[in-house]
Amino acid sequence: MDHFLYRDGILHAEDVAIPDIAATVGTPFYVYSTATLTRHYRLFTEALSPLPHLVCFAIKSLSNIAVLKTLGDLGAGMDVVSGGEYRRALAAGVPGERIVFSGVGKTREEMRLALTGGIRQFNVESEPELRALSEVASSLGATAPITIRVNPDVDAKTHEKIATGKKENKFGIPIARASAVYAEAARLPGLKVIGIDVHIGSQLTDLAPFEQAYLKVADLTRQLRAEGHSITRLDLGGGLGIPYERSNSAPPLPTDYGALIKRTVGDLGCEIEIEPGRLISGNAGILVASVIYVKNGEDRDFLILDAAMNDLIRPSMYGAHHDIVPVREAAPGLEAQEFDVVGPVCETGDTFAKGRPLTPVAEGDLVAFRSAGAYGAVMASEYNTRPLIPEVLVHGDHFAVIRTRPTFDEMLNRDTIPEWL
Ligand code: LLP
Repeated sequence: MDHFLYRDGILHAEDVAIPDIAATVGTPFYVYSTATLTRHYRLFTEALSPLPHLVCFAIKSLSNIAVLKTLGDLGAGMDVVSGGEYRRALAAGVPGERIVFSGVGKTREEMRLALTGGIRQFNVESEPELRALSEVASSLGATAPITIRVNPDVDAKTHEKIATGKKENKFGIPIARASAVYAEAARLPGLKVIGIDVHIGSQLTDLAPFEQAYLKVADLTRQLRAEGHSITRLDLGGGLGIPYERSNSAPPLPTDYGALIKRTVGDLGCEIEIEPGRLISGNAGILVASVIYVKNGEDRDFLILDAAMNDLIRPSMYGAHHDIVPVREAAPGLEAQEFDVVGPVCETGDTFAKGRPLTPVAEGDLVAFRSAGAYGAVMASEYNTRPLIPEVLVHGDHFAVIRTRPTFDEMLNRDTIPEWL
């Protein structure tokens, strides 16, 4: 459920009419709903209660500091994968003790940053990383709390580019080697082993792969305890999928996921962490664009928008589906017409949808891409020297621009001309 609904035929974000935002900031832009972010975060905390737990929002899905503060103020933790994301979490007022650091390629500099600024735990992904962290922590006279990410070799049954829990993926250590790696971690100075981490992929629409992975983690917990390790925390990753095509998909709900967690690892007495991104942010955001032209091609009609693949790359990168709806609802009885929906970027890959039935829209009309809050703005680029588009946050009947559109001067002035030219 989200808070982007039609009222009197006009799409609203909560109580704000989308055309009012468009008139203020211009198109294209992203707009997020505070109520949806809040609701989705709470669904997870309710689903995990009464287990001791922390919901760590995966910042990579939507990293605007105003969004992070919205969630952080509710008590959310944050899952970061870079020094930049760590800085964002702190800038949003989230204390280090609620920040977990994931990722296969943490640099020594990033380790130092988090150790000095405060960190809940590092999710370590390899033996070289373990040794590097031990060195960095020791040199600072600090102790790094760690989990080790295990790769359970489970097929997440999702798009191959976002599946992470198979042995051929670069993530984690093979679960079969966990015993040896935990033994090494216990021997190294500057490290304190506290738990186990797992994350098998993103946009999972079936709970079975989670179940397989979490049962393996439960077994491993018992085994590592028998080997003398104190395992008090399980980080179960993110990955729960959302219904991108409202008409025909109903992925499992956070309550189902919470019940699964309780069933598989709930009796181990561990504190549970999860790292959802998409399920919190995905349906909390839409991308609004204007129609530049309706172009009648030889065998199809093109809807050419002012948003492009550089603003929302998911369709060209993963063949992802986003529902596209008119901001002004069509008059009843008007028949849908098929369009290829495209942006102005100079490559054929700049296609959002092919043969998509849409009620007739004309030049200047506004359209909205649903479910664009996650992996939308964060994956945008300035390809074709197109400015990064603004982000807007709605709260009830008011809205604020939470990232402004850069001016062309700002963009061009980042380049410098060497003295020999
Ligand atoms: N934790 C870890 C360690 C992750 O790698 C990820 C996502 C998450 C949590 C959050 O997963 P979520 O709950 O959002 O599914 N750009 C792709 C998705 C990449 C996901 C990367 N890792 C897309 O647009 O579909």
